[in-house]
Amino acid sequence: MALSINKNVIPEFSLKRLFLLLFLQFSAKVRMTNAVCESYNKSWVTFEQCRLKAVNRNKTIINIIATIHHPAKKIHLKLEVLKKANGYKPWLFSQVIDACAFMKRSNNPVMKMVHGFYKDFSTINHTCPYVGLQEVKDFYVRPEQMPVPLPTGDYALFLTWLFSDKPQFMTNVYFTFEEDLLKQ
Ligand SMILES: *[C@@H]1O[C@H](CO)[C@@H](O)[C@H](O)[C@H]1NC(C)=O
Ligand SMILES: *[C@@H]1O[C@H](CO)[C@@H](O)[C@H](O)[C@H]1NC(C)=O
Ligand SMILES: *[C@@H]1O[C@H](CO)[C@@H](O)[C@H](O)[C@H]1NC(C)=O
Repeated sequence: MALSINKNVIPEFSLKRLFLLLFLQFSAKVRMTNAVCESYNKSWVTFEQCRLKAVNRNKTIINIIATIHHPAKKIHLKLEVLKKANGYKPWLFSQVIDACAFMKRSNNPVMKMVHGFYKDFSTINHTCPYVGLQEVKDFYVRPEQMPVPLPTGDYALFLTWLFSDKPQFMTNVYFTFEEDLLKQ
């Protein structure tokens, strides 16, 4: 897999836009349909669990447990949003983020907002390095209702994690989005 690393800090505007789209607008009308985790290098990262569970008709939770066997000091995250149309096609956004720099800027308002979404669910809450058991537990998209410009359809969020500039594992989540007809 060829990945180019964008070492520049991405502009706050696009970060804000990304996370608004990824998180705020993933309201109650968003349903996760599948989760796929895969390690490319099992001597560094292994998955113990990667599972979606439907709690009720409106709520699907995700649980991921992974072990990082050696300290990861340099971590990049490639985020891609894809939309299904004859297969999943890149849509809206593809960006590589320096995750360690991101975790350091704790007074960044965007990071604070993002942190707010998952801090109660995950061990990903400190600066680098990362080693040992990592967990995302019972994460679900909270039903913040927002006016939504996303078209109804099937989407995927592909997260490819790079340690020392090399892809080590991916965590991909598939979801459907339905426009809120009652609000129109
Ligand atoms: C795979 O992981 C080992 C550490 O267990 C590391 O030394 C090696 O560079 C990794 N390989 C790749 C291609 O990243
Ligand atoms: C699911 O959502 C619908 C519509 O918003 C609501 O009427 C229903 O009570 C919800 N069901 C559960 C189990 O939360
Ligand atoms: C990070 O999360 C772990 C597990 O939930 C918790 O024990 C720890 O106190 C948290 N650390 C910070 C800095 O929030």
